[in-house]
Amino acid sequence: MFRKIFLSLWLTIAVVAVALQLMLLWQRDREQRSNARMRVFVAAARRAADAYEHGNPARAAAEATDLDRAMGTDINVLDERGASIVNRRVRDADRAAARAAARIAAAGFSMPFGDARTGIVAQPFNATSGHRFILIAPTRRALPWLGASRSPYLTLVAVLVLGGFVCFALARHFAVPLAQLGESANAVADGRLGTRVGAQLGRRRDEVGALARDFNRMAERIEALVAADRRLLGEMSHQLRSPLARVTVALSLARKGGGDEYLARIEREVDRLDQLVGQLLTLARIDSGVENARGAFDLAGLLREIVSDGDFEARAHGRRVELVAADPHPILGYEEPMREAVENVVRNAIRHTEEGTAVEVTLQHGRLTVRDHGPGVPEPMIGEIFAPFWRAPGETSEGAGLGLAIAERIVRSHHGSIRASNVKGGGMMVTIELPH
Ligand SMILES: Nc1ncnc2c1ncn2[C@@H]1O[C@H](COP(=O)(O)OP(=O)(O)OP(=O)(O)O)[C@@H](O)[C@H]1O
Ligand SMILES: [Mg+2]
Repeated sequence: MFRKIFLSLWLTIAVVAVALQLMLLWQRDREQRSNARMRVFVAAARRAADAYEHGNPARAAAEATDLDRAMGTDINVLDERGASIVNRRVRDADRAAARAAARIAAAGFSMPFGDARTGIVAQPFNATSGHRFILIAPTRRALPWLGASRSPYLTLVAVLVLGGFVCFALARHFAVPLAQLGESANAVADGRLGTRVGAQLGRRRDEVGALARDFNRMAERIEALVAADRRLLGEMSHQLRSPLARVTVALSLARKGGGDEYLARIEREVDRLDQLVGQLLTLARIDSGVENARGAFDLAGLLREIVSDGDFEARAHGRRVELVAADPHPILGYEEPMREAVENVVRNAIRHTEEGTAVEVTLQHGRLTVRDHGPGVPEPMIGEIFAPFWRAPGETSEGAGLGLAIAERIVRSHHGSIRASNVKGGGMMVTIELPH
């Protein structure tokens, strides 16, 4: 864009300057040629005047005729009283021009008088005898440059109009798209997040086009983020409301004389609510960037603790957790959140792996994998597994579906990645990659 603005302005100035210079040269050239013609005319007119003064009017008329033939014009020569000495008709306009020319000459100037309206030029001159005569010639044929006597204004107007067009096009080229962008930005600011700048703008190859595309990408991202947040809020309310509804029912039943059964139920629901609120707080805390102290720790060491705890829990249900490999993997980050993230993945695996099988945990080449021998997740849904509150259809275990969403955000806050895939031969595998 810089180059475009610079070049177009610079070129405009250059073109105008060159055009003006050329026009000046051209005009000077025409003037010179006109002056040369005028000198020829005056020479012929002087010969005619001399012949006339020597008492040879036929010779004078012949001079005029010769000139007319040679130069393609139609001249007349008048004496000081305004009578033609070459035996030609004198029109009123000729006489008027002659009078004006005589006045100019009387004032001491030697230039011709040109009447732009009638197109007549009158040039006073002295015959050899010293007597004044006046040459009359029709402009367009005799002195073309006088026809261009209005041209300075014309040139100015032409330059202004031309420059105006160029500047108008230039301003339009930059101002219109910027105004459009501004409008779209205002619309987004007003909450119309679906606003995008026109496709036509986005196709432009210059910086304005790039800006338009960036703007659209930004608007898309904001829209998606806001939509995700709204969805989360909706689901959150729903998830909080269900246990609360059950608590209300249990309370009324307990009041009607139900026994400890209902109180136990209430306790369970309150526990669940407490857990849910804890998870939501964790989620919010990761997103807002308020986190535990940052420090250095070894992922391998953390993994050994998690696997040992997990194995202890799993054995109670006839399952195992095995640590296949644990290469050292030092990390600068948040140890407790990271523990929570990995623990949730391992717990999920323990929960879903078949009885009698083992969950295999591997940390090798900077990649952490947790693989179970369970049913996995229906293939088309595997991409949704990290969405908040997502649970597989028919999932019977306790839990809100927030564990993996939390894990994903924690891993992302460590600039890492997490993904899930079904393993051929059964089971699911979660892969976490973390930079050192
Ligand atoms: N290893 C796995 N095998 C099969 N399905 C799984 C596995 N891990 C997770 N899932 C499915 O993904 C869903 C979401 O998991 P996530 O950990 O986010 O939530 P949760 O375990 O249901 O609840 P929470 O972790 O919040 O207590 C689970 O409900 C389950 O349906
Ligand atoms: Mg879970």
